[in-house]
Amino acid sequence: MKRQDFRFFHRLRVRWAEVDMQKIVFNAHYLMYLDTAVADYWRALAMPYDEAMRLLGGDLYVKKATVEFHASALMDDRLDVCLRCGRIGTSSMTFTGAIYRGDELLITAELIYVFADPASQTSRPVPAALRAMLTGYENGEAMLELRTGGWAELGVAARRIRSEVFVQEQRIPAEMEWDDADDSAIHAVAFNRLGQVVATGRLLQQRPGVARIGRVAVHRMLRGSGVGRQVLQTLLAAAAGRGDREAVLNAQRSAQDFYSGLGFQPRGEAFDEAGIAHIEMARALPVV
Ligand SMILES: CC(C)(COP(=O)(O)OP(=O)(O)OC[C@H]1O[C@@H](n2cnc3c(N)ncnc32)[C@H](O)[C@@H]1OP(=O)(O)O)[C@@H](O)C(=O)NCCC(=O)NCCS
Repeated sequence: MKRQDFRFFHRLRVRWAEVDMQKIVFNAHYLMYLDTAVADYWRALAMPYDEAMRLLGGDLYVKKATVEFHASALMDDRLDVCLRCGRIGTSSMTFTGAIYRGDELLITAELIYVFADPASQTSRPVPAALRAMLTGYENGEAMLELRTGGWAELGVAARRIRSEVFVQEQRIPAEMEWDDADDSAIHAVAFNRLGQVVATGRLLQQRPGVARIGRVAVHRMLRGSGVGRQVLQTLLAAAAGRGDREAVLNAQRSAQDFYSGLGFQPRGEAFDEAGIAHIEMARALPVV
Protein backbone atom coordinates (compact mmCIF):
# COMPACT_ATOMS: atom_id res chain seq x y z
CA MET A 1 0.00 0.00 0.00
CA LYS A 2 1.54 3.33 -1.06
CA ARG A 3 0.91 6.83 0.21
CA GLN A 4 0.13 7.91 -3.39
CA ASP A 5 -2.69 5.34 -3.66
CA PHE A 6 -4.88 7.64 -1.57
CA ARG A 7 -6.57 10.77 -2.82
CA PHE A 8 -7.55 11.81 0.69
CA PHE A 9 -5.32 12.44 3.70
CA HIS A 10 -5.73 14.22 6.99
CA ARG A 11 -2.57 15.57 8.65
CA LEU A 12 -2.19 15.63 12.40
CA ARG A 13 0.53 15.98 15.01
CA VAL A 14 0.89 13.53 17.90
CA ARG A 15 0.35 15.27 21.24
CA TRP A 16 2.04 14.35 24.51
CA ALA A 17 -1.22 13.12 26.05
CA GLU A 18 -1.49 10.48 23.33
CA VAL A 19 1.77 8.66 24.13
CA ASP A 20 2.10 6.03 26.84
CA MET A 21 4.87 5.07 29.25
CA GLN A 22 6.82 3.52 26.38
CA LYS A 23 6.75 7.00 24.75
CA ILE A 24 4.83 5.63 21.77
CA VAL A 25 1.24 6.40 20.79
CA PHE A 26 -1.22 4.38 22.86
CA ASN A 27 -2.84 1.92 20.43
CA ALA A 28 -6.45 3.03 21.02
CA HIS A 29 -5.64 6.54 19.75
CA TYR A 30 -5.23 5.30 16.20
CA LEU A 31 -8.97 4.68 15.97
CA MET A 32 -9.52 8.25 17.13
CA TYR A 33 -7.13 9.49 14.45
CA LEU A 34 -9.04 7.51 11.84
CA ASP A 35 -12.37 8.82 13.07
CA THR A 36 -11.09 12.41 12.93
CA ALA A 37 -9.93 11.76 9.38
CA VAL A 38 -13.33 10.35 8.41
CA ALA A 39 -14.98 13.62 9.55
CA ASP A 40 -12.55 15.48 7.32
CA TYR A 41 -13.25 13.08 4.46
CA TRP A 42 -16.90 14.20 4.40
CA ARG A 43 -15.62 17.78 4.31
CA ALA A 44 -13.52 16.89 1.26
CA LEU A 45 -16.75 15.68 -0.35
CA ALA A 46 -18.26 19.14 0.45
CA MET A 47 -20.80 17.43 2.70
CA PRO A 48 -21.98 19.30 5.81
CA TYR A 49 -22.38 15.96 7.59
CA ASP A 50 -25.51 16.42 9.74
CA GLU A 51 -27.54 18.26 7.12
CA ALA A 52 -26.46 15.87 4.38
CA MET A 53 -27.40 12.79 6.39
CA ARG A 54 -30.78 14.31 7.24
CA LEU A 55 -31.37 14.88 3.54
CA LEU A 56 -30.31 11.31 2.76
CA GLY A 57 -32.62 9.92 5.43
CA GLY A 58 -30.13 7.94 7.47
CA ASP A 59 -26.81 7.99 9.25
CA LEU A 60 -23.60 6.01 9.25
CA TYR A 61 -22.62 3.65 12.03
CA VAL A 62 -19.33 1.80 12.48
CA LYS A 63 -19.98 -1.93 12.30
CA LYS A 64 -16.42 -3.19 12.38
CA ALA A 65 -13.00 -1.60 12.78
CA THR A 66 -9.74 -3.45 12.44
CA VAL A 67 -6.29 -1.99 12.97
CA GLU A 68 -2.94 -3.57 12.16
CA PHE A 69 0.18 -2.11 13.71
CA HIS A 70 3.39 -2.08 11.71
CA ALA A 71 5.45 0.56 13.54
CA SER A 72 4.95 3.04 16.36
CA ALA A 73 4.26 6.76 16.15
CA LEU A 74 6.13 9.00 18.61
CA MET A 75 5.36 12.29 20.32
CA ASP A 76 5.41 15.29 17.95
CA ASP A 77 5.32 13.06 14.85
CA ARG A 78 3.41 14.54 11.94
CA LEU A 79 1.16 11.80 10.61
CA ASP A 80 -0.89 11.53 7.44
CA VAL A 81 -4.08 9.57 7.99
CA CYS A 82 -5.08 8.37 4.52
CA LEU A 83 -8.50 7.02 3.63
CA ARG A 84 -10.12 5.50 0.63
CA CYS A 85 -13.68 4.31 0.23
CA GLY A 86 -13.42 0.94 -1.47
CA ARG A 87 -16.35 -1.39 -1.60
CA ILE A 88 -19.90 -0.08 -1.33
CA GLY A 89 -22.32 -2.93 -0.67
CA THR A 90 -26.09 -2.71 -0.31
CA SER A 91 -26.08 -0.89 2.99
CA SER A 92 -22.41 -0.98 3.98
CA MET A 93 -19.31 0.83 2.87
CA THR A 94 -15.73 -0.18 3.53
CA PHE A 95 -12.95 2.32 4.07
CA THR A 96 -9.30 1.38 3.84
CA GLY A 97 -7.14 3.46 6.15
CA ALA A 98 -3.39 3.86 6.33
CA ILE A 99 -1.34 6.06 8.63
CA TYR A 100 2.02 7.28 7.40
CA ARG A 101 4.95 9.18 8.89
CA GLY A 102 6.39 10.60 5.70
CA ASP A 103 6.45 7.57 3.40
CA GLU A 104 6.74 5.07 6.26
CA LEU A 105 3.62 2.98 6.77
CA LEU A 106 2.78 2.71 10.48
CA ILE A 107 -0.80 1.46 10.54
CA THR A 108 -3.30 -0.15 8.19
CA ALA A 109 -6.99 -0.28 9.02
CA GLU A 110 -10.36 -1.29 7.69
CA LEU A 111 -13.54 0.48 8.75
CA ILE A 112 -16.94 -0.89 7.82
CA TYR A 113 -19.84 1.53 8.11
CA VAL A 114 -23.52 0.71 7.75
CA PHE A 115 -26.08 3.21 6.51
CA ALA A 116 -29.06 2.96 8.84
CA ASP A 117 -32.18 4.65 10.09
CA PRO A 118 -31.18 6.53 13.27
CA ALA A 119 -34.56 5.98 14.94
CA SER A 120 -34.86 2.22 14.45
CA GLN A 121 -31.12 1.52 13.96
CA THR A 122 -31.98 -0.78 11.08
CA SER A 123 -29.91 -0.81 7.94
CA ARG A 124 -31.02 0.87 4.73
CA PRO A 125 -29.61 0.76 1.22
CA VAL A 126 -26.88 3.32 0.64
CA PRO A 127 -28.70 6.07 -1.31
CA ALA A 128 -27.71 6.33 -4.96
CA ALA A 129 -26.66 9.98 -4.48
CA LEU A 130 -24.23 9.07 -1.70
CA ARG A 131 -22.87 6.14 -3.68
CA ALA A 132 -22.28 8.42 -6.69
CA MET A 133 -20.55 11.01 -4.51
CA LEU A 134 -18.18 8.49 -2.97
CA THR A 135 -17.22 6.82 -6.24
CA GLY A 136 -16.98 10.22 -7.92
CA TYR A 137 -14.62 11.54 -5.27
CA GLU A 138 -12.42 8.46 -5.41
CA ASN A 139 -12.29 8.78 -9.21
CA GLY A 140 -11.00 12.34 -8.90
CA GLU A 141 -14.20 14.17 -9.86
CA ALA A 142 -14.97 17.69 -8.61
CA MET A 143 -17.30 17.77 -5.61
CA LEU A 144 -18.51 21.31 -6.11
CA GLU A 145 -20.52 22.98 -8.83
CA LEU A 146 -19.95 26.73 -9.01
CA ARG A 147 -22.81 28.61 -10.65
CA THR A 148 -22.78 32.30 -11.49
CA GLY A 149 -25.83 34.38 -12.28
CA GLY A 150 -28.20 37.09 -11.19
CA TRP A 151 -30.31 37.41 -8.06
CA ALA A 152 -33.42 36.10 -9.81
CA GLU A 153 -31.64 32.85 -10.54
CA LEU A 154 -29.40 32.39 -7.49
CA GLY A 155 -30.96 34.69 -4.86
CA VAL A 156 -32.79 31.97 -2.94
CA ALA A 157 -29.65 29.88 -2.60
CA ALA A 158 -27.36 32.82 -1.79
CA ARG A 159 -29.84 34.16 0.75
CA ARG A 160 -29.90 30.84 2.61
CA ILE A 161 -26.15 30.63 3.20
CA ARG A 162 -25.72 34.38 3.86
CA SER A 163 -28.51 34.27 6.46
CA GLU A 164 -26.78 31.39 8.23
CA VAL A 165 -23.31 32.91 8.17
CA PHE A 166 -23.80 36.67 8.45
CA VAL A 167 -27.15 37.11 10.19
CA GLN A 168 -27.27 34.09 12.51
CA GLU A 169 -23.59 33.30 13.11
CA GLN A 170 -22.01 36.77 12.93
CA ARG A 171 -25.14 38.62 14.17
CA ILE A 172 -25.00 41.26 11.44
CA PRO A 173 -28.38 43.05 11.49
CA ALA A 174 -30.61 41.75 8.68
CA GLU A 175 -31.26 45.31 7.43
CA MET A 176 -27.52 45.74 6.83
CA GLU A 177 -27.10 42.37 5.14
CA TRP A 178 -29.73 42.85 2.43
CA ASP A 179 -29.33 45.76 0.02
CA ASP A 180 -30.27 46.79 -3.50
CA ALA A 181 -26.83 45.89 -4.80
CA ASP A 182 -27.89 42.23 -4.87
CA ASP A 183 -30.18 43.01 -7.81
CA SER A 184 -27.34 44.18 -10.05
CA ALA A 185 -24.57 41.89 -8.73
CA ILE A 186 -23.22 38.74 -10.30
CA HIS A 187 -23.58 36.04 -7.66
CA ALA A 188 -21.47 32.91 -7.37
CA VAL A 189 -23.02 30.01 -5.49
CA ALA A 190 -21.34 26.68 -4.74
CA PHE A 191 -23.53 23.57 -4.63
CA ASN A 192 -22.40 20.14 -3.50
CA ARG A 193 -23.33 16.94 -5.34
CA LEU A 194 -26.52 16.67 -3.23
CA GLY A 195 -27.62 20.10 -4.44
CA GLN A 196 -26.97 21.69 -1.03
CA VAL A 197 -25.79 25.30 -0.98
CA VAL A 198 -22.37 25.47 0.64
CA ALA A 199 -20.91 28.89 -0.23
CA THR A 200 -21.49 32.17 -1.99
CA GLY A 201 -20.04 35.55 -2.90
CA ARG A 202 -21.00 38.50 -5.10
CA LEU A 203 -19.37 40.75 -7.67
CA LEU A 204 -20.28 44.41 -8.18
CA GLN A 205 -18.93 47.11 -10.45
CA GLN A 206 -17.34 49.76 -8.24
CA ARG A 207 -16.49 51.90 -11.25
CA PRO A 208 -15.46 51.11 -14.83
CA GLY A 209 -12.58 48.62 -14.72
CA VAL A 210 -12.81 48.07 -10.96
CA ALA A 211 -14.65 45.07 -9.48
CA ARG A 212 -15.96 44.99 -5.91
CA ILE A 213 -16.23 41.59 -4.27
CA GLY A 214 -18.32 41.03 -1.16
CA ARG A 215 -20.60 38.82 0.92
CA VAL A 216 -18.23 35.85 0.74
CA ALA A 217 -19.55 33.12 3.00
CA VAL A 218 -18.79 29.41 3.37
CA HIS A 219 -20.86 26.89 5.34
CA ARG A 220 -19.41 26.68 8.85
CA MET A 221 -18.71 22.94 8.60
CA LEU A 222 -16.77 23.23 5.34
CA ARG A 223 -14.34 26.03 6.12
CA GLY A 224 -10.69 25.37 5.51
CA SER A 225 -11.33 22.84 2.75
CA GLY A 226 -10.76 25.14 -0.21
CA VAL A 227 -14.39 26.08 -0.91
CA GLY A 228 -13.88 29.80 -0.23
CA ARG A 229 -10.90 29.86 -2.58
CA GLN A 230 -13.01 28.39 -5.39
CA VAL A 231 -15.74 31.00 -4.88
CA LEU A 232 -13.17 33.81 -5.00
CA GLN A 233 -11.50 32.37 -8.08
CA THR A 234 -14.88 32.17 -9.82
CA LEU A 235 -15.66 35.81 -8.99
CA LEU A 236 -12.18 36.97 -10.03
CA ALA A 237 -12.49 35.10 -13.33
CA ALA A 238 -15.90 36.71 -13.96
CA ALA A 239 -14.43 40.16 -13.23
CA ALA A 240 -11.40 39.59 -15.47
CA GLY A 241 -13.68 38.13 -18.14
CA ARG A 242 -15.71 41.33 -18.39
CA GLY A 243 -12.52 43.38 -18.65
CA ASP A 244 -12.02 44.66 -15.10
CA ARG A 245 -8.39 45.43 -14.27
CA GLU A 246 -8.60 45.55 -10.48
CA ALA A 247 -10.64 43.90 -7.70
CA VAL A 248 -11.27 45.49 -4.31
CA LEU A 249 -13.05 44.25 -1.19
CA ASN A 250 -13.56 45.09 2.45
CA ALA A 251 -12.11 42.10 4.30
CA GLN A 252 -13.07 41.15 7.79
CA ARG A 253 -9.74 41.25 9.66
CA SER A 254 -10.21 37.60 10.62
CA ALA A 255 -10.32 36.72 6.91
CA GLN A 256 -7.40 38.97 5.85
CA ASP A 257 -4.95 36.08 5.48
CA PHE A 258 -7.45 34.18 3.36
CA TYR A 259 -7.57 37.09 0.87
CA SER A 260 -3.77 37.60 1.06
CA GLY A 261 -3.40 34.02 -0.12
CA LEU A 262 -5.44 35.00 -3.19
CA GLY A 263 -3.18 37.91 -4.06
CA PHE A 264 -4.98 40.78 -2.27
CA GLN A 265 -2.94 43.46 -0.49
CA PRO A 266 -4.26 45.62 2.35
CA ARG A 267 -4.86 49.28 1.59
CA GLY A 268 -5.28 52.03 4.21
CA GLU A 269 -6.33 51.71 7.83
CA ALA A 270 -8.66 49.18 9.48
CA PHE A 271 -12.23 50.38 10.08
CA ASP A 272 -15.40 49.17 11.74
CA GLU A 273 -18.43 47.94 9.77
CA ALA A 274 -21.45 46.34 11.51
CA GLY A 275 -19.34 46.08 14.68
CA ILE A 276 -16.70 43.96 12.88
CA ALA A 277 -13.14 45.15 12.13
CA HIS A 278 -12.45 45.37 8.38
CA ILE A 279 -9.66 46.44 6.08
CA GLU A 280 -9.79 47.35 2.40
CA MET A 281 -7.79 45.01 0.15
CA ALA A 282 -7.08 45.11 -3.58
CA ARG A 283 -5.38 43.14 -6.32
CA ALA A 284 -4.76 43.53 -10.03
CA LEU A 285 -6.61 41.26 -12.44
CA PRO A 286 -5.03 39.48 -15.39
CA VAL A 287 -5.87 40.57 -18.93
CA VAL A 288 -7.88 37.81 -20.57
C1 LIG B 1 -13.35 33.55 5.21
C2 LIG B 1 -13.97 32.38 4.45
C3 LIG B 1 -14.82 32.89 3.32
C4 LIG B 1 -12.81 31.51 3.90
O1 LIG B 1 -13.36 30.41 3.20
P1 LIG B 1 -12.77 28.94 3.43
O2 LIG B 1 -13.51 28.02 2.54
O3 LIG B 1 -12.71 28.65 4.86
O4 LIG B 1 -11.27 29.13 2.89
P2 LIG B 1 -10.40 28.09 2.07
O5 LIG B 1 -10.49 26.75 2.70
O6 LIG B 1 -10.70 28.18 0.62
O7 LIG B 1 -8.95 28.66 2.35
C5 LIG B 1 -8.00 29.02 1.38
C6 LIG B 1 -6.70 29.32 2.11
O8 LIG B 1 -6.91 30.42 3.01
C7 LIG B 1 -6.63 30.03 4.34
N1 LIG B 1 -7.64 30.63 5.22
C8 LIG B 1 -8.97 30.51 5.13
N2 LIG B 1 -9.57 31.24 6.08
C9 LIG B 1 -8.58 31.81 6.78
C10 LIG B 1 -8.56 32.69 7.88
N3 LIG B 1 -9.67 33.12 8.45
N4 LIG B 1 -7.35 33.09 8.36
C11 LIG B 1 -6.21 32.65 7.77
N5 LIG B 1 -6.17 31.84 6.72
C12 LIG B 1 -7.34 31.42 6.23
C13 LIG B 1 -6.74 28.53 4.34
O9 LIG B 1 -5.98 27.95 5.37
C14 LIG B 1 -6.21 28.17 2.97
O10 LIG B 1 -4.81 28.23 3.01
P3 LIG B 1 -3.87 27.34 2.06
O11 LIG B 1 -4.06 27.92 0.69
O12 LIG B 1 -2.52 27.56 2.61
O13 LIG B 1 -4.37 25.95 2.18
C15 LIG B 1 -14.81 31.47 5.41
O14 LIG B 1 -13.99 31.07 6.48
C16 LIG B 1 -16.07 32.13 5.95
O15 LIG B 1 -17.14 32.02 5.35
N6 LIG B 1 -15.98 32.77 7.12
C17 LIG B 1 -17.13 33.40 7.75
C18 LIG B 1 -17.63 34.56 6.95
C19 LIG B 1 -16.54 35.57 6.62
O16 LIG B 1 -15.69 35.88 7.43
N7 LIG B 1 -16.56 36.01 5.36
C20 LIG B 1 -15.60 36.96 4.85
C21 LIG B 1 -16.20 38.31 4.90
S1 LIG B 1 -15.02 39.50 4.39
